[in-house]
Amino acid sequence: MRKKITVIGAGHVGEVTAFKIAEKELGDVVLLDLIEDMPIGKGLDIREGGPVGQYDSAIIGTNSYADTANSDIVVITAGKPRKPGMSRDELVDSNFNIVKPVTEEIIKHSPNAMLLVVSNPLDAMAYTAFKVSGFPKNKVFGMAGILDTTRFRTFLAMEINVSVESIQALVLGGHGDTMVPISRYTTVSGIPISHFIPQDRLDAIIDRTRKGGGEIVKYLKTGSAYYAPSLAVAEMVESIVKDKKKILPCAAYLEGEYGIKGLYFGVPIKLGADGVEEIIEIDLTDEEKEMITSSEGAVRSVIDLLKF
Ligand code: NAI
Ligand code: 2OP
Repeated sequence: MRKKITVIGAGHVGEVTAFKIAEKELGDVVLLDLIEDMPIGKGLDIREGGPVGQYDSAIIGTNSYADTANSDIVVITAGKPRKPGMSRDELVDSNFNIVKPVTEEIIKHSPNAMLLVVSNPLDAMAYTAFKVSGFPKNKVFGMAGILDTTRFRTFLAMEINVSVESIQALVLGGHGDTMVPISRYTTVSGIPISHFIPQDRLDAIIDRTRKGGGEIVKYLKTGSAYYAPSLAVAEMVESIVKDKKKILPCAAYLEGEYGIKGLYFGVPIKLGADGVEEIIEIDLTDEEKEMITSSEGAVRSVIDLLKF
């Protein structure tokens, strides 16, 4: 039986995510937005691409939660993106007032779904979906670390002129400018990155990675990145649907791991058919721990603003 995957929000991230999920035949897709008829048109357009795109996934667009009933996975992309000069954290009030009611509607119709949160500020919106749904922590998680890591990997591959696929890297922490790229765990096919690149260039690339979301916003002017984010969501959905148990950096609810309690935070997880099947704790140096603590403070200060 095919999985049913709902994507809430049919804007930039939602539409590309729905397309990638359909194209990879990860399940049948429901694309929902509150803008009248728009998701129906987008869903039909993606469906009509099946014969030439060589996918049989059924996809519909809708304005009604009834169509989302009994979804296995619900991806939440509803919410405002930032504009130039804004931080992700400035979206907290407006997007809390979207993600909270969206979660309430989702759980009425899909009480057994997993919730994959994308809306920003990511760690706070994942926390919102977790608290509002009352779902177990393995079934509510957020996408950010894969995006931050794919940016880091891309910039490194561009710098040293190798395939992006040869770069393994890990970015931990909150999805903001305090994110923590861990260069000690960054390799080129197992060879430490320090073999290929001097420290000053590595530092410049880490800085570009931290500001990577803002760099795209500066060029787009009216919104934020959506191709790389949507591919990151599709990788998570694939790991769940195919029970691949990939180790991926994602926002997960921590209860003491990394010394952090009661917060969503970017950490390596094993993602499979049961959602977050394991949180992997890696050894960190004192300097890395300090960066994690600073990122934890940044996430906590946003979560403190939520008014449930
Ligand atoms: P967008 O503006 O293109 O699309 C958002 C869509 O959500 C719109 O179509 C809007 O009508 C819809 N929406 C708003 N309220 C709704 C509701 N109550 N129910 C259903 N739909 C609703 O924005 P985009 O670029 O798709 O980004 C969406 C969100 O994802 C933003 O908050 C953005 O910051 C975040 N984001 C997070 C990333 C991450 O790494 N976690 C990466 C990229 C985007
Ligand atoms: C990004 O990093 C929008 O948070 C998103 O591009």
